[in-house]
Amino acid sequence: MWTAKKLAKAYLDFFREKGHAIIPSASLIPEHDPTVLFTTAGMHPLVPFLLGQKHPEGKRLANNQKCLRTDDIDEVGDASHHTFFFMLGNWSLGDYFKKEAIEYSFEFLTSRKWLGLDKKRISVSCFKGDKDSPKDVESAKHWEKAGIPKKRIYFFPKKDNWWGPAGKTGPCGPDTEMFYDTGKKKCGKECKPGCGCGKYFEIWNDVFMQYNKTAEGKFEKLKQQNVDTGMGLERTVAVLQGKGNDYETELFRPMMEKAKELSKSYEEKSARIISDHLRAVVFVIGEGKGIVPSNVEQGYVLRRLIRRSIRHARLLGIEGMFCRQIAKKVIEAYSGEWPELEKNSGLIFRELEAEEEKFGKILGQGVKMFEKILKKEGRISGKDAFLLYQSFGFPLEMTAEIAREKGIKIDRKAFEKEFENHQEISRQASAGKFKSGLADHSEITVRMHTATHLLHAALRKVLGEHVQQKGSNITPERLRFDFSNPEKVTKEQLEKVEKLVNDAIGKGIAVKREEMSLEEARKKGALAFFDSKYVPEKVSVYTIEGVSKEVCAGPHVKNTKAIGKFRIKKEEAISAGVRRIKAVIEQ
Ligand code: SER
Repeated sequence: MWTAKKLAKAYLDFFREKGHAIIPSASLIPEHDPTVLFTTAGMHPLVPFLLGQKHPEGKRLANNQKCLRTDDIDEVGDASHHTFFFMLGNWSLGDYFKKEAIEYSFEFLTSRKWLGLDKKRISVSCFKGDKDSPKDVESAKHWEKAGIPKKRIYFFPKKDNWWGPAGKTGPCGPDTEMFYDTGKKKCGKECKPGCGCGKYFEIWNDVFMQYNKTAEGKFEKLKQQNVDTGMGLERTVAVLQGKGNDYETELFRPMMEKAKELSKSYEEKSARIISDHLRAVVFVIGEGKGIVPSNVEQGYVLRRLIRRSIRHARLLGIEGMFCRQIAKKVIEAYSGEWPELEKNSGLIFRELEAEEEKFGKILGQGVKMFEKILKKEGRISGKDAFLLYQSFGFPLEMTAEIAREKGIKIDRKAFEKEFENHQEISRQASAGKFKSGLADHSEITVRMHTATHLLHAALRKVLGEHVQQKGSNITPERLRFDFSNPEKVTKEQLEKVEKLVNDAIGKGIAVKREEMSLEEARKKGALAFFDSKYVPEKVSVYTIEGVSKEVCAGPHVKNTKAIGKFRIKKEEAISAGVRRIKAVIEQ
């Protein structure tokens, strides 16, 4: 019997046999990418390497990456869309290309030694071609050679068969997608791979990243031809177990059962939404990086996921506090592989319950208010949506969802305008920020990245060695660094830290990069705070002689003098025992 665990192991074993190094799942919170809130795909943390930087583990990589996307949130509740999911992936960084990628995919899917899926049930799609890139006849040829007949090879345009860039610019290219025929009846004449009716399950996507999309919208050939693939763990295990949807697999069953047990009027879709959303929340808070429900950025996404779960629980007739009971099931099911969840379970329960307490009480009043407005005005205006947000904590998307359920069209633009008029609150929440994403390697962010290492070292010097990085986020405007420290950092201490950093910059120290095993790096005193159980065999160590030594993927400036003047702007608490510093670089 296939399980998700067995599938992930088979995938990594297969690619290890094909010469791939198995790398750890990166954090869900991108460390050096200001344009996106979460790691949205396995390729995301690898952007610098897809663009040509050398990866210490070589040119062939594979992993099982935790991902979070809010793009598909409205689809959650169907058979196979999720906010949080695991993506199995393999990469060629300028090594093999279409032929091997397709051969590997076909072998893994159909060989008896591996998944042993019936090749007659597999269809594929390839890129149809347009002004930016030609029709991908090459991929089609490789599929045919492997054993997929022409009639099950489809050609679709860019909207279906092109992946990336993750943000406005960056690596991208045509892809070829693999679909499994579940055996369901076609929903109509037009039913084919890509149709959402549930007949065809998209299980794997091989992207041929050979272009870089520029800010002007041009597709330039990349220095190297890359392969980036992604297989949805949840969907594929559902296929292997012959289940019609992901929620019947062991990945969701414990939460689904608990939701059913607690409900008074059970409804499958709401239970799925709760199971999906709270699993996501547990994994994000469970990283212990200080991301907790709030009104901005990642915290806002958490808030939205929790509040939506609470609303769907009410639809099931669950009136009291319930989040802890579902979260407990997630922790039980996953902490064998992701021990940080168990370790941070206290934090997870605390944060979830605080949010639940806050919102659970006012949700009912908010719904009443919604209905009152609707009755009186016949619609929900932007101003009304804002009122519901401000007084009852309704995320914009929740108001839109309730409106949709009642068959009312909402003027999203008017909503957003209203939100924009009111400070920053949901600036990030209104689409833009959640969708985009690409590592920013502009000069200023690289400088801030090195400054972050200096700051980390200085904090340890001034406050003590208990200081550990808990998170880092860099935008062209500022750097933000989260670290463990039990109390507020005093003004004097901050001044000392700032001076230490500026002294190191003033001295013009070379920044040296070396590759070594993690063990060796640790022996040499390099800081490495991994929260993952897989540890790469080779890591990059950046040394700023006499000041700092850290394991890090880079990139960094060559000499500290390139950084500029460092200024701390703010120090604050973000959760118990975790502090946050915001700092800027002045020219
Ligand atoms: N980046 C591609 C995807 O997300 C393949 O991994 O589907």
